[in-house]
Amino acid sequence: MSRASRAINIDDLRTLAKARLPRMVFDYIDGGAEDEITLRRSVDRYADYELQWNSLVDISKIDTSTKVMGNPNPLPFFISPTAASRLFWPKEGELAVARAAQKAGIAYSASTLASRTLEDISATAPGVPKFIQIYVWKDRGIVKEFLARAKAAGFTGCILTVDTAVAGYRERDPRNGFSIPPKVNSKTATQALARPGYLWDIVSGPKIGPVNFRNPGGGKGAGDVMGTINNLFDRTMTWKDAEWMANEWGGAFAVKGIATKEDAIRATEHGATAVWLSNHGGRQIDTSVPVVDLVPEVRDAVDSHIEVIADGGVRRGSHVLKLIARGATSVAIGRAYLYGLAAGGEAGVARAIQILKDDVERGLSLLGVPKLSDLDDTLVRLRR
Ligand SMILES: Cc1cc2nc3c(=O)[nH]c(=O)nc-3n(C[C@H](O)[C@H](O)[C@H](O)COP(=O)(O)O)c2cc1C
Repeated sequence: MSRASRAINIDDLRTLAKARLPRMVFDYIDGGAEDEITLRRSVDRYADYELQWNSLVDISKIDTSTKVMGNPNPLPFFISPTAASRLFWPKEGELAVARAAQKAGIAYSASTLASRTLEDISATAPGVPKFIQIYVWKDRGIVKEFLARAKAAGFTGCILTVDTAVAGYRERDPRNGFSIPPKVNSKTATQALARPGYLWDIVSGPKIGPVNFRNPGGGKGAGDVMGTINNLFDRTMTWKDAEWMANEWGGAFAVKGIATKEDAIRATEHGATAVWLSNHGGRQIDTSVPVVDLVPEVRDAVDSHIEVIADGGVRRGSHVLKLIARGATSVAIGRAYLYGLAAGGEAGVARAIQILKDDVERGLSLLGVPKLSDLDDTLVRLRR
């Protein structure tokens, strides 16, 4: 049994990830923007919501199922899109995550900036719903081509991320000399040499970076991930373009990175079937509102058939349950599975999913709510 498989909680996986990765790569997962206030508060805020429970309820059967982008999901959480997984597990990257999602039966989302092809990801996880996350390229021809390819590969949901008009200022990255793909200089070489196993995996495989689109841009920074965000994505994008994209996709369509109820309403008016509350894991604008605070007002603002997806700072099953209790339909996990991936590939991701699954089942049992769909905010109150 690998060390990752023996992790007791998500923080153990984080510790193992830190020991395996060069500092710059660990910090790319672990860090946030500017003073990292959003990053910290997103986790800490869950503790302010205190739980009560129903006593003497028959909990012999626990039903943790919900739906995600119109599909049944056996657990209330699923895989959030994150860039370039090969950075964290160089040989397999996204495939290790997709395989763990497939075995757990939970939905998988691929990032625009994935480091494995959509076709390979799809072939690895044929039995679970798969969603493609996109940003908007200046060249709409590329968007069309990309969406058509995702559809042909079996992706059934599309996620438009709207909190990344430009890349957030993640100060750990320039301090460490980090870029995607990593470049060799005196700072990065010292960090990489301190992790020879990882270094060997990197140098013995193909270059790591986005593989699902040609890099048609050029200009400063093109070719690395931050450069791609800043140079190739369209800063003139408005709700009209979102609507064009929803129509172009013609299926389940989520707008990810919503921070106000007004935008949630706008999203649904422009074709979204799901609104996704997120601050990108504290990686974009700092001091943004923790998502757990926002859920009820957004749930109340949109029609009941619209799904409310929430993410940010989820490290415990109780965090998932608090988001659901406050009105989320489902919860996306980011760093929780990335720490697992970096700690031990597929086995580490599987362990992260299992830890959260056990937490959720135990949590519902202790709350006296055998059915997740019956969980509401009557058992959660804000600490005074
Ligand atoms: C390393 C990393 C890369 C990410 N890349 C993307 C991305 O390519 N597209 C996207 O929409 N969100 C991306 N995100 C944001 C996640 O989808 C998710 O919103 C966030 O991680 C949730 O917060 P958590 O990590 O605290 O769970 C990324 C997050 C991390 C940590």
